[in-house]
This record gives sequence, structure tokens and C-alpha cells, in this order.
Amino acid sequence: MKITVVGAGAVGATCADNIARKELCQELVLLDIKEGIAEGKAQDMMQTAALLGFDTRITGSTNDYTKTANSDVVVITSGLPRKPGMTREELIGVNAGIVKGVAENILKYSPNAIFIIISNPMDTMTYLTLQATGLPKHRVIGMGGALDSSRFRYQLSQHLGCSPADLNAVVVGGHGDTTMIPLIRMATWNSVPVTKFLSAEQQQQIINDTMVGGATLTKLIGTSAWYAPGAACASMVESIVRDEKKLISCCVYLEGEYGQKDICLGVPVIIGKNGWEKIIDFDLNEEEKAAFAKSAAAVRSMNDVLKTL
Ligand code: 2OP
Repeated sequence: MKITVVGAGAVGATCADNIARKELCQELVLLDIKEGIAEGKAQDMMQTAALLGFDTRITGSTNDYTKTANSDVVVITSGLPRKPGMTREELIGVNAGIVKGVAENILKYSPNAIFIIISNPMDTMTYLTLQATGLPKHRVIGMGGALDSSRFRYQLSQHLGCSPADLNAVVVGGHGDTTMIPLIRMATWNSVPVTKFLSAEQQQQIINDTMVGGATLTKLIGTSAWYAPGAACASMVESIVRDEKKLISCCVYLEGEYGQKDICLGVPVIIGKNGWEKIIDFDLNEEEKAAFAKSAAAVRSMNDVLKTL
């Protein structure tokens, strides 16, 4: 098994670190356009192997795509991260060109890879990758929902005073501050609906805090977050390489599911060795359906910007 992570910034490096610690592959390539950064971070990670006891071989490369040849899974994190006060959507102009170039280069050397997209605005970058590569839809997956759902479980755990691991909670829709939809009605604490334990105000607070989860961290840190994005992506890679068939909210191409088509948006999917294998219908109520349609409209207008670039 061979995995490539494109972009050796904080998100890419953290994702690679998680992949190596979990020994999800024998060979892991870190690629970056900036001279030396991928090689340096790869060596730094390899120098933890003796301490952590993993066997994954990590190598770095400055923009040499031949090194990525025959990867089974490729994670694309390339592009600019958010600065405080910036929306993910504001990055489209710069990141669209970068992501398209990366996806095309990767495809030349790894025609059978499954692509995971992290670059922002993630829903539009996933759609762009699908268009630019012409890959079968099951092999292009955007990461947003996995991250947002983990942030949702964190926010719930803070109010419930419980372990995030005991919670089941899913965020669908776009990966934007105003487009994501934390499905609190369906969230459970060891199979009991969380709504049983939370006031209406608390529920609204949890939803709001989840939606601005990324922006809150960007403000605190000064740039986009990386621990949870890296770990969320690694959990998707794990479900692919171990064929776990985990149910994860991910951004995938819709052809009528959830009432939408010709768009990539976050929905619950089964992730296994073939990429995303099946969309699960969560049977949204009228209010949730309306929120999903609104989210789709916002993402669609962002996708339209691609035509003007
Ligand atoms: C975030 O929400 C990286 O978009 C990502 O932190």
C-alpha cells in the first residue's frame, strides 16, 4: 500500500504523521512545492519511528511527481490556508488553479488512486477535482464532514460532560461557516438522543459553535487548524485501506440523492476499499431538508465561480 500526501504544511504533515503512526501503508510520500520542506518533515517524522515503533517508510519530495507513482490513496491539502477573518470561500481564486494542477499531475502517475480533498473551499475543490480528472465519482472524496462531525462531538461533549467517543453525531451539507448542518436531532449519547439532556439554548449554542469551529481556531491560532483536519483525513484513509466500511460524513458527487445533483456535498457515506461506496439516506425532516437545499445553493454558486476563473 502506498499513500501520497500533497502539501507538507501543517494539515498535510499532521495527516501524514497520523497515517504513519497507524501504519496504514508501507510507503508514504509527502510532496510540496517549497524546496526542502517535504524532505525535512518526512525525515523528522522518520526520526520518530524508533520511538513510536512504526514501520511506514516516509519520504519527502519537492514537486517530483514521479515519486508519487502508483499511489493507492492521494490526499490533496495544497493551497493557501485561511487567515483570521477570512472565509474558506475567499480562497477559491488561488486554490482552484493549484488544486487542478496537482490533481492532473497526480493522475498521470497514479491512475488508480482514490483522491481525498482537503483544500478549501473544500466542496468546490472536490467538484473541481472530479471534473478535472474525469475519475469515477466513487474515487473522489472531500474531507469536510468527517472533521465537522468530530468538532460537533467535541462541542456536545463539553455540554454533556462526557467523552466525545461515546457520542454519535453527524454534520452534513457544505464545509462552510454558514453551510454546514449539525444534525442534532439525530445525535446520540450511547444510543440515547442528546436532545433529552440539553435545553433548546444549549442545542443552539452547540450548533453555532460547531459551525464556526474552524473560524474560532483560525482566530486563536492565526492560521487554519491542523490537528483535527489531519486526524479526520487519516480516519478516512484508514477506512479505505482497511476496508472498514465506516459510515462517515464526506463530500461526494450527488446525482439526485438528498434532492441534489451535479454538486459535491457532505452526506453520510460508507467508506471502504473502493472509495465512497454508498450514500446512506438519513431521512431528513422538512426543516433539515430546507437547510440542505440552502447549503446546496450556496455551494452551487461557489462552483459557478469556477467558470469565471
Ligand atoms: C478547517 O475547518 C481546514 O477547513 C479546515 O479547519
